[in-house]
Amino acid sequence: VDASGTRVFELTAQEGSTELLPGTTTTTWGYNGSHLGPTLRAERGERVTAEVTNHLGEMTTVHWHGMHLPARMDGGPHQPISPGETWRPTWEVDQPAATLWYHPHPHGETERHVYLGLAGMFLIDDPEAAPALPSEYGVDDVPVIVQDKQFSQDGQFSRESVQEPGILGDTVLANGTFGAFHEVTTELVRLRVLNGSTARTYAFGFDDDREFQLVGSDGGLLAAPLPLTRIRLSPGERAEIVVALDPGEDTVLKSYPPELGDVASELAFGGEDTIEVLQLRAAEELQDSEPVPVELAEIEPLAEEEATVTREFTLASRLINGRSMDVDRVDEVVEVGSTEIWEVSTDDPLMHNFHVHDVQFQVLDIDGEAPPPELRGLKDTVYLEPGRRYRLIMRFEDYADPSAAYMYHCHLLRHEDEGLMGQFVVV
Ligand code: C2O
Ligand code: CU
Repeated sequence: VDASGTRVFELTAQEGSTELLPGTTTTTWGYNGSHLGPTLRAERGERVTAEVTNHLGEMTTVHWHGMHLPARMDGGPHQPISPGETWRPTWEVDQPAATLWYHPHPHGETERHVYLGLAGMFLIDDPEAAPALPSEYGVDDVPVIVQDKQFSQDGQFSRESVQEPGILGDTVLANGTFGAFHEVTTELVRLRVLNGSTARTYAFGFDDDREFQLVGSDGGLLAAPLPLTRIRLSPGERAEIVVALDPGEDTVLKSYPPELGDVASELAFGGEDTIEVLQLRAAEELQDSEPVPVELAEIEPLAEEEATVTREFTLASRLINGRSMDVDRVDEVVEVGSTEIWEVSTDDPLMHNFHVHDVQFQVLDIDGEAPPPELRGLKDTVYLEPGRRYRLIMRFEDYADPSAAYMYHCHLLRHEDEGLMGQFVVV
């Protein structure tokens, strides 16, 4: 925190090398280190400034995924950072406590930059609305960035995938570690799980099918904890879960074959893979944890009647509404202060999801039915089961700027790079 009370983060994007597999050195990219980036953390109401320096040999950007902020600070394709330069965005944190993240967004190169290792968590705290959840960072409140990698013969990250959705690696890393484990010392552990993969969708659960409580989605805590045994996360989505352990026991967080809906072939989309992600090893004695509160957050439902505009977005192959991304074209103009409904669907039997910058939306309904309980919180990214119509409601509160665009796109990064993206301005 500097003299004016602003919280300052310094990030330097750089290349390094990491031993990810025993005896093998892999070229990786990271912020302030050789792989991934530090967890950034700020409070609601705080002003933050990031000083992002590019020590890579090529242009990159840093996008604050899930953050409500002015479009000029958003870090999309229009805020390039040339090699050797520093970009200094600043904004006021004005949203509920949440698990957000940051990653590059250079148009056409996002998959490669993220895949090489540029990604980190950005946690928002709200001291005035903090239910008694496990919250000791690294002890009982643990970030889990899940990414799949494919290694070439010589131990480098390979992007030569013939699969349609992009890279489906056979090695899954948690926080950049293969075969990761966490020593649990408390009765309850909160895992902030981020699907930071470029293409793979996971269905997380424990190997003994134990129940866990889903307490948060992309944009913050749920109204109430939701007991589940599986949670599906497509690329970019987050879930905060709380799991209970008994003294001395082990359990493994795994990914099971996810329900992908009506896609062409589950096999081709990674829908049949079971993968170990993170082992939890409980100590012989565990410290007491407070039980998960029955009420977590107040979520003000956005009412359909408030919406003044409805827009339709149909994703097909690499096009949205028949068009490919053009950085010089503004696709949608949104009036500041308005509430809108975005009807999103995909008609081809391919895997897509949908991410909107700047806002957290609520899922009004899917094919006219109420969304499943895990989709009733705040979301910025949602998986699209082929053939179904997702009605998303969102409010564009402030930050009018006709000269700077926000993005919406599929978060399967190869799809995004290949044009499955559009731009909107708030005026
Ligand atoms: Cu996480 Cu536009 O992206
Ligand atoms: Cu897609």
